[in-house]
Formats: sequence, C-alpha cells, structure tokens
Amino acid sequence: MWPRYRESWEVGAPEAAPLSRDEAEQSQKVLCSVEVVGVTCLLTAPSPACPRPARPSHAFRPRPACRRRSPPQLQHLGPGYLGPEQLPDCLKGCDVVVIPAGVPRKPGMTRDDLFNTNATIVATLTAACAQHCPEAMICIISNPVNSTIPITAEVFKKHGVYNPNKIFGVTTLDIVRANAFVAELKDLDPARVNVPVIGGHAGKTIIPLISQCTPKVEFPQDQLTTLTGRIQEAGTEVVKAKAGAGSATLSMAYAGARFVFSLVDAMNGKEGVVECSFVKSQETDCPYFSTPLLLGKKGIEKNLGIGKVSPFEEKMIAEAIPELKASIKKGEEFVKNMK
Ligand SMILES: NC(=O)c1ccc[n+]([C@@H]2O[C@H](COP(=O)([O-])OP(=O)(O)OC[C@H]3O[C@@H](n4cnc5c(N)ncnc54)[C@H](O)[C@@H]3O)[C@@H](O)[C@H]2O)c1
Repeated sequence: MWPRYRESWEVGAPEAAPLSRDEAEQSQKVLCSVEVVGVTCLLTAPSPACPRPARPSHAFRPRPACRRRSPPQLQHLGPGYLGPEQLPDCLKGCDVVVIPAGVPRKPGMTRDDLFNTNATIVATLTAACAQHCPEAMICIISNPVNSTIPITAEVFKKHGVYNPNKIFGVTTLDIVRANAFVAELKDLDPARVNVPVIGGHAGKTIIPLISQCTPKVEFPQDQLTTLTGRIQEAGTEVVKAKAGAGSATLSMAYAGARFVFSLVDAMNGKEGVVECSFVKSQETDCPYFSTPLLLGKKGIEKNLGIGKVSPFEEKMIAEAIPELKASIKKGEEFVKNMK
C-alpha cells in the first residue's frame, strides 16, 4: 500500500486513498504509453519517496532521484527528455499525452493573464503532438484551460488530424475540491462524495452542481452561495497562500493522476468510467463546455450532458457563457493569427 499523503497548505488536497494490491498490480499491466510534457508535480507528488513536489530545472526532465525510487506507476514513464529537439522522440508512439507545461499564476493574476505565455507553449507542444502522435489522447492542464483547449483543437485542425473525442481540458481539480468541501461540511468521506462540476475552469465559469451531488446533500441558500464561491475561487486561495511560489501542485497532481488513470482504464476496456472534462460540446451554445463524459477505448464515448439543474445552477450557467465564449474565441483567434 502507498501511504496516505496530504499537503495541508493546499486547499482541496484530499487524503489520497492508498492503492490496494489489486490496483497496484493492475497498474503494472497498463497497455498505454503516457508522456507528461512539461513535467513537474505529476511525476513526483504521489510518491512516498518524494513527498515534496520537485522543481526540475529543465523542461521535460524529471528529478533523477524520483525516477530511481518512484513507485511502479511512475516507472512506466520514459527516460526523461531534455528539450524541444527531443520532442519527436518523446512523443512518437504515445497513446496519452499530458501537458502541464507553462507558467502558473502569481497573486493578483487571473488564469487569463497567463494567456500570452502559455498559449504559445501549448500551441507549440500540441503541434508536435499533431505531427508525431496524432492518434493520442491529449490532456491539457496548462491554463487558461478555457482557451488552451480551443488552441489545441485549432492546431490539430490545421494539421488535418482533429478528433474532438480525444482532446481533454483537465478540470478534475474542481471536482476534487468540490467533493472535499462538501465532505468537510457534511462530515462525509471525500472519496465517497461526487459533485459534478461543469462549464469551464476559471472563476464563475466553474459551476458545481451541488443539486446532483451523490450522496444527496442539502444546504440553506446562503451556505450554498458561500460554498459555490469557495469552489470557484479555491485556486486563487492557493495562489494567495503560496504568495508567489506558484499555484496548486500536489492537489493538481492528484487530480491529474485521477483523470489520466480513469482515461487509461477506459482505453483498456473498463466500462462505466465517467469524468468531467472541458471538451468540444453541443450541450450549450458554447462550442466547448465541461460536462460528465462516459470514457471509452476511443476517448469520449458519450457526453452525458448537464442533466437536471436547480434554478441557482441554471443562472450560473447562463452567466458563465459570455465569458466562456470570449475565452474560446481568444484561443481560436490566436491559432488563426499564428505564423
Ligand atoms: N488545470 C488545472 O486544474 C490546473 C491546476 C494547477 C495548475 N495548472 C496550470 O498548470 C501549469 C503549470 O503549473 P505548475 O504549478 O506545474 O508550474 P511550474 O512552474 O511548477 O511548472 C511548469 C513546468 O513547465 C515547464 N515548461 C515551461 N515551458 C515549457 C515548454 N515550452 N515546453 C515544455 N515544458 C515547459 C517548466 O520547465 C516547468 O517544469 C500552469 O499553467 C498552471 O496554471 C492547472
């Protein structure tokens, strides 16, 4: 069993359930090649050998000590690549590419303030994916996710290899936080709480559907409003608490790992795997929107849609759409204007 871990200064970092022997053995049989491009926390956070997030000095390079002593899941990862000239080797043959590359927020910044730097990074890396592993599932963590997913889609379109069922904006941290906060208030086990979080991944575009929470929970309206606001601003709470030292790392690593393990499970034939993600969508008049998705061997098998929502949630969806549309357009325009 892996030990439980928690980094208390990270809002929403759950106590991770230890892997059972079955799960650990299963993880050795993964039939997928996964590459993490712009490696940081994802390689190191869940490892008892490296309880603190590592900060590699070069892009693509996991800390050697972590690689040597990492638990079985992490040993599946490749040898570590040191720069853009090695991107083709890094990506060839990949089934899943996870991209957390880019700059994180500093206090006072919105996710959109990262656009200028991260848009180019994501466009460059996804162009390499389109060339060297066009069939891979692409999981984008780099912010602003509301724009980096349209960027990825447009880059894949430019290369003539676009498949909307294989491009995912990783919003799982919003679900992890919502589950943790609801569990805290209702004295429940966070691992057994499931709050779908739809919309996008920034401020008021993050829409927790507490009315669809399992198990069912009720809150008076004032508490519901406060709880919703806390889920929407939890990332900002972490950025402020870290006072210039970055954004969520351990909780993001947990959330990223959860999403990727779910995807790999579904690709390997597990049935009934559902995760929310920001994807190409026809559920609203926004061209991209996060909703629960049934995952399968080829990526999105079925978009499960928004479902029945309360009037409070309906109002949040309506209010989020103009901001979402603007962020999406900004991403699309960026690729159109790229040389
Ligand atoms: N989706 C989410 O829920 C979520 C949560 C937390 C952080 N984030 C985002 O993830 C991104 C990374 O955050 P972090 O805290 O890990 O930052 P970090 O500074 O700790 O790590 C960023 C990494 O990206 C690498 N990098 C930079 N430019 C690169 C390039 N051109 N090619 C390859 N690698 C490159 C750096 O070398 C570094 O290792 C930020 O954009 C942040 O906003 C998203």
